[in-house]
Amino acid sequence: MAALPLEEEWAVETVCAGECTLRIHHIPEQQYWDLNGMGLHIWPAARLLCDYLLTHPASFSGCRSVCELGSGTGIVGLVYAKLYGTEEVTVAITDNSPRALKLMEQNVAFNQFETTVHVRYLRWGEGIDVAQLPCAKFDCVLASDCTFSVDLVPHFLATVDTLLAERSGQLVMCAVMGGVGAFEETINQAPRYGLRLVEPKQPPLDPTTTSKRSIVLRFERA
Ligand SMILES: C[S@@+](CC[C@H](N)C(=O)[O-])C[C@H]1O[C@@H](n2cnc3c(N)ncnc32)[C@H](O)[C@@H]1O
Repeated sequence: MAALPLEEEWAVETVCAGECTLRIHHIPEQQYWDLNGMGLHIWPAARLLCDYLLTHPASFSGCRSVCELGSGTGIVGLVYAKLYGTEEVTVAITDNSPRALKLMEQNVAFNQFETTVHVRYLRWGEGIDVAQLPCAKFDCVLASDCTFSVDLVPHFLATVDTLLAERSGQLVMCAVMGGVGAFEETINQAPRYGLRLVEPKQPPLDPTTTSKRSIVLRFERA
């Protein structure tokens, strides 16, 4: 595995969330394949989900605990904390990649979120050690570009199911359509895990679609 770039070689991007700004370290697009750094780049789905966070405050009113899965750089959870963070709100950003976790710690510190955003190891499909998380159950799970493989979909959804309370909470995710069929699997399998698609109202399933457009999906507990 190629070494991570030195700290001074990260690209630093200024991300605007309304009137707030964040500075996020990541690997630019031309480098991440060489570095095998899938989670170390800010993916287009993450940008779209950040935009949704900003433009849909009503979807998050009442959310006091938020867990992001497959955070990569941590951008989505950090934007959430910037927009909606208060003393009563708990935000966890998680990943299974040690390199992503290191980058997330760095971005948390760089933006001075050490006391409000919790960085945790979490691998989908593994038994979740709730004691390691800042909450046993979350009001909201966030995820961007995490359903990129059909095999991972049940593990991803089972993790969401475990993190949400039995009868409340929501999953807000930005998924990439087209590709290997994981998008369709996510929509089709979600009801098995107690998740009902509420946004968009009609499942956007078009077998003829080949475009790799990203789309925000919001599921609530069925
Ligand atoms: C395509 S990247 C998306 C990163 C970030 N969410 C974004 O949109 O910029 C997928 C992320 O999921 C993480 N991931 C992959 N498989 C995982 C698993 N089984 N459990 C937890 N995280 C996983 C990767 O380490 C990576 O950070």
